[in-house]
Amino acid sequence: MSESFSNKLINWYNQNKRDLPWRKTKNPYMVWVSEIILQQTRIEFGIKYYERFLKKYPDINKLANTSDLDLMKIWEGLGYYSRAINMLKTAKIILNDYNGMFPSKYEQLIQLPGIGDYTASAVSSICNNELQPVVDGNVLRFLSRMNKIDLPIESIKTKKYFKKLAFELIKDVNPGDFNQALMDYGSMICKPKKYVCSSCLFSSDCKAYNSNSIENYPVKKKKILIKNRYLNYVVVVTDDNKTQINKRNSEGIWKNLYEFPLIETKQSLSAHQIIEELEIDFVELLSVKKVNHKLSHQLLHITFFIFRVDNKLDNLVDIKSLINYPFPKPINKFISELV
Ligand code: ADE
Repeated sequence: MSESFSNKLINWYNQNKRDLPWRKTKNPYMVWVSEIILQQTRIEFGIKYYERFLKKYPDINKLANTSDLDLMKIWEGLGYYSRAINMLKTAKIILNDYNGMFPSKYEQLIQLPGIGDYTASAVSSICNNELQPVVDGNVLRFLSRMNKIDLPIESIKTKKYFKKLAFELIKDVNPGDFNQALMDYGSMICKPKKYVCSSCLFSSDCKAYNSNSIENYPVKKKKILIKNRYLNYVVVVTDDNKTQINKRNSEGIWKNLYEFPLIETKQSLSAHQIIEELEIDFVELLSVKKVNHKLSHQLLHITFFIFRVDNKLDNLVDIKSLINYPFPKPINKFISELV
C-alpha cells in the first residue's frame, strides 16, 4: 500500500496545496521561521506574523542583533513566548559558530535551542531533501485513523512509532512535499471533528472509517488537568497619566513580556483585600475589571484593580507609551480599552 498511498497523496497535494508564503522558498532561515511560528499557531493566523517577522528580520544577522523588547513586540499575541527567546539564542549561535549560514541538515538543526525532531525534520526535508518524516498533530491524527493505532498520542514512544511508520511512506517520494502533503491532508480533510470522509481519497483503505470508529482516533490518554490561577493586577494611574509596569522574568508563562504589578493568589480577592495587601498610598479605587483567559493547561482569572495615586511612585511610564511594550494578550486588550 505504501507506494500508491504516497503517490496518491503527492498528486492530491500538487492539485490542492495551500498557497503559503513559506512554500515559495527553500531558504532554511525562512522555513525555520515559518515552522517555529506554526508550532502552536493556526496557519491563517501565522501568515501575517511570518510576513511581519521577515520584514523586520530579513536575515539571521538582523535577528541575532535585535533586543528582547523588539522581538517580543513582534511576537506579541502569538503565545508560547519561549519560542521567540529560543529563536534569538539560535540566531546568535548561527552568527557566531556557523558564520551566519543557517544549516539545513537534520543533525545540525537538532542541536539548536528550540529545535526538536518536528522542526529539524520539517526544515531538513523541505530545504535539504532529507528523508525525515514530520510527525505533528495532523499527521498523528491522519495516520492513526488510517491504521487504527491504539497508542496514546501524547507519549514520546507513540511519536517514535509514527515516525517509523512514516519512514516507510516517505522513502520513494520528495520528502519535503510528502511532509507538507501529510500535514495539509490532516488539516484540510482528516480534520479533528469536521472530517470529510466523503471527499477522502483513502477512505476505502482507512481502518477507522471502515469500522465506523473515526471518533475514537487518535487515542488520547490523559485528560489535561486545568490549573486555576488568580492574577490580580494593580493598575495605578497618576494625575499626569502615568502607570507602573514590570518585566516578567520568572520561568513559566509570559517570560520577558510586561505586566502591571501583580499579586497572585490562591483564590479570587475583593478590592478590599487587595487594598490591605498594598503598600502604596492610593487615593481612590477607580474601577475593577475581570476577565478569564484560557491557556492550554491553565485558566487565568485576571482582575485589574485600577487606582488613582499621587505621583510619588518609582518606575512610572506614560500610559500613552504602553503601546511600545510587549504585553500578554489579555493585558493588551485591557490596555486598548484603557487608553
Ligand atoms: N504545519 C506546520 N508546518 C506546515 C507546513 N510546512 N505545511 C503545512 N502545514 C504545516
